[in-house]
Amino acid sequence: MKVLSIINQKGGVGKTTSCANLGAALALRGYRVLLVDLDPQAHLSISFDRMPEPGDPSMYTLLTQGHSFADVLQPTSLANLWIAPTNLDLTGVESELASEIGREGLLRLALGELARSELAPDVVILDCPPSLGTLSLNALVASNSVLVPLQAEFFALQGMAQLLDVLERVKRRLNPAIELIGVLVGLYSGQRNLSREVVEELRNHFGDLVFDTHVRVNVRLAEAPSHGQTIFEYAPDCNAAIQFSEIATELASRMGLAVTTSEPTELENERPREKEIEAGQNLS
Ligand SMILES: Nc1ncnc2c1ncn2[C@@H]1O[C@H](COP(=O)(O)OP(=O)(O)OP(=O)(O)O)[C@@H](O)[C@H]1O
Ligand SMILES: [Mg+2]
Repeated sequence: MKVLSIINQKGGVGKTTSCANLGAALALRGYRVLLVDLDPQAHLSISFDRMPEPGDPSMYTLLTQGHSFADVLQPTSLANLWIAPTNLDLTGVESELASEIGREGLLRLALGELARSELAPDVVILDCPPSLGTLSLNALVASNSVLVPLQAEFFALQGMAQLLDVLERVKRRLNPAIELIGVLVGLYSGQRNLSREVVEELRNHFGDLVFDTHVRVNVRLAEAPSHGQTIFEYAPDCNAAIQFSEIATELASRMGLAVTTSEPTELENERPREKEIEAGQNLS
């Protein structure tokens, strides 16, 4: 079982969008995937229409009341794709765990138990909140790999030094196995010089860690969650679906996932094909 953190303490850079759609792309290839919502905003849970009622098993009760993943995880509308959802109760977790011994290791313990059970998926993807507090530390301590989504904007690299410093300290003190395995450019607009310049700067800093495929600005990606769907159900033929699929192929290889024999499953799309409304129609 491989565990991937999708993390960036900057808000609105595409963490949740990447988590949902990379998870779906891997599930369509036949990997068993569990998405974990570690953000008190609960956007991932809401986008799968799986937000638990207050008091019901959730990532909050897993971290504070001893529930296990077996109690918390739920199926999604896609085969092979499960979610461990949260609700707004998770907001209180930072203060509730403040004096808990070994608080950064709670998720790792719960995932260890999951890995030994018959429910163990092939991949777990953790959707982190836009902060570097206890929840994000739990994610880093529990992960093999880290993926950082960035927006192709002027301030893209702001905060990266702090994130890399935290990653380095986690690696030295708590989780020597953790590796940064990818930098993903989301919200890319090929028509803007700025987007191209930012990607060039990212390549200078991170070299081959930057995925060749960027996720371009695409209104379908923003619409899909409001229908409780991933891009592969909502608009499977749009460029964003192709881009996430390409990135997922590369991600599976970088994470060292065993190659699946199955071709990506085609989903029926009941929506009429409409002209794509997106800033850039060409693939990068
Ligand atoms: N490529 C894209 N094209 C258009 N809209 C996008 C794209 N990627 C993400 N969005 C939209 O941008 C917003 C922010 O994306 P997302 O929620 O994935 O970011 P996030 O990093 O998880 O944010 P937060 O830090 O608040 O958790 C969302 O409304 C999402 O639908
Ligand atoms: Mg998010």
